[in-house]
Amino acid sequence: MRARRALLYMPGDDEYKIKKAAELTVDSVVLDLEDSVSMSCKNTAREMVAKSLAEVDFLGSERLVRINPFSSGLAEGDLEMVLPSQPDGVLLPKTKTAEDVQKLSKILADFEKEHGWENNSIAILAIIENAVGIINLKEIAQADPRLVALICGGEDLATDINAVRTRAGWELFYARSAVVLHAGAFNLQAIDMVTTDFSDAHALEEEALQCMKMGFGGKQIIHPNQIEPVQRAFTPDEEEIAYALQLIEKFEESDKNGQAAFALDGVMVDLPVIIRAQRLLKRARAAGKLL
Ligand code: COA
Ligand code: MG
Repeated sequence: MRARRALLYMPGDDEYKIKKAAELTVDSVVLDLEDSVSMSCKNTAREMVAKSLAEVDFLGSERLVRINPFSSGLAEGDLEMVLPSQPDGVLLPKTKTAEDVQKLSKILADFEKEHGWENNSIAILAIIENAVGIINLKEIAQADPRLVALICGGEDLATDINAVRTRAGWELFYARSAVVLHAGAFNLQAIDMVTTDFSDAHALEEEALQCMKMGFGGKQIIHPNQIEPVQRAFTPDEEEIAYALQLIEKFEESDKNGQAAFALDGVMVDLPVIIRAQRLLKRARAAGKLL
């Protein structure tokens, strides 16, 4: 499993921010060709993204590109320009159907074949950000083996359903839960919406912790200040790791004695608790906190 605790976006035509992002310690960088690039700059952005992917060393960060949606008529041209620089994955915005994912996968497969690259080496991350996408989650989540993550796009979704964005965010709670649920059912990562107010550190911490507890494995971000708090929220701390190790040890002991449920500090522990402990250790390993 690759850790995708934080996905940092930057406009694909902003060379300064792309170079800056390359120096930051963030799990994934997303060079954007979609909403953060104005229509008149789309071509400049395509060229800049292709060049940056080829020339800039992003250290250990996963290198992702967000293309424009197929409905814009720009997606094919985006892919033609950036794929030769071999990004690690492509974000598909406004994903509405399984066919959208399959269409992208076919283009990637043809490209990999043509260049002699490993089959399925370029990942797809589908952004679910309209009501139809939420309704079709069951089909989208099973669309293609290349799909590794479902991303919840909060702002577009709110617009699509005529919701008013609030600090508590209840207007998007059902949609966000649906994303987590389908990711869980089909073994995908769930990645949460952006906190657009990058000046409010408290709101960010709160949202990051809340979404981690809901089951998201990561969160989209738009500013360097958001990296540390978000990555921290998705990284188990020493105490949690020690407790998980203790739970597993106790479980193995008690299981040997034919007892699948036992008590620890006055709390009942059984298999689902152990599975969560094992997953926490997996996250700790992916984040480099445990061997
Ligand atoms: N990636 C890399 N570097 C970034 C960055 C980003 N997303 N956002 C800001 N920075 C850099 C700035 O260039 C600045 O660098 P400097 O200190 O060397 O001059 C520093 O971080 C501090 O930035 P700040 O001045 O606080 O913000 P700003 O006014 O320059 O930019 C935004 C604010 C919102 C325009 C900017 O954060 C941004 O472009 N975010 C990404 C937007 C995006 O891609 N949206 C699409 C997905 S929703
Ligand atoms: Mg958008």
